[in-house]
Amino acid sequence: MKGVILAGGTGSRLHPLTRITNKHLLPIYDRPMINWGIEALVNAGIREIMLVTGGTHAGEFLRLLGNGQEFGIDRLSYGYQDRPGGIAEALGLAERFVDGDPVLVMLADNIVERSIKPMVDAFKRQPKGARILLTQVEEEEHLRHLGVPSFDEDRRVVGIIEKPEQPTSNYGVTGIYCYDADVFQVIPTLAPSGRGELEITDVNNYYIEQGAMAYDVLEGFWGDAGESIDAYYAVNDFVRGNGANKD
Ligand code: G1P
Repeated sequence: MKGVILAGGTGSRLHPLTRITNKHLLPIYDRPMINWGIEALVNAGIREIMLVTGGTHAGEFLRLLGNGQEFGIDRLSYGYQDRPGGIAEALGLAERFVDGDPVLVMLADNIVERSIKPMVDAFKRQPKGARILLTQVEEEEHLRHLGVPSFDEDRRVVGIIEKPEQPTSNYGVTGIYCYDADVFQVIPTLAPSGRGELEITDVNNYYIEQGAMAYDVLEGFWGDAGESIDAYYAVNDFVRGNGANKD
């Protein structure tokens, strides 16, 4: 299984901090944000990783991560997104790297308290399709900033709405996804959303329509440190007090 870690975007929600650097290089407690995502993948047994970034600070990632061996990576590749075209577009840049294997995709601003290895192991046992990681979110205002799933009476996910006005459940879709190689056939069929991006939620809805989507519910803390300046500090406080990526 390969890993793709997405560290692009303009980071506009963290301006002006992100005028001086890429969001994923900002500190979370004692290290740059990206290091926590790398650790999450390596701890889950994923040793072949492609990092996709963009914008004006891409070279800093190379300086920080080098060939990745210091972090337990066997093979570290880099991709560059010319313009902020969305998560699904960024993932599309990894097609040749992934080369037909199953892939775990992680947004590098997502920080988790507990290891993602159970999800990765479950996907290895799942012959095809996709798998997402949900987290329980109580505040309706928070849900309006996330992808939110709906369920049928058998608790199967029947659809995901991106940033809904009226959330249909109290679960958020985290930025941690597993896909089979078909994902690279799905991405070219997508149309840009209202925000002009190729949405990962549209990829997920494709798999849901095919009846090929599974999910896990995350235990412990989850935070999107890029969501707002308050979220950024909440994640910092959590990690400082409790750590992250724990078994
Ligand atoms: C993205 C996804 C959204 C998901 C969130 C998790 O949102 O589009 O479905 O819930 O990541 O971090 P974005 O950060 O691009 O607004």
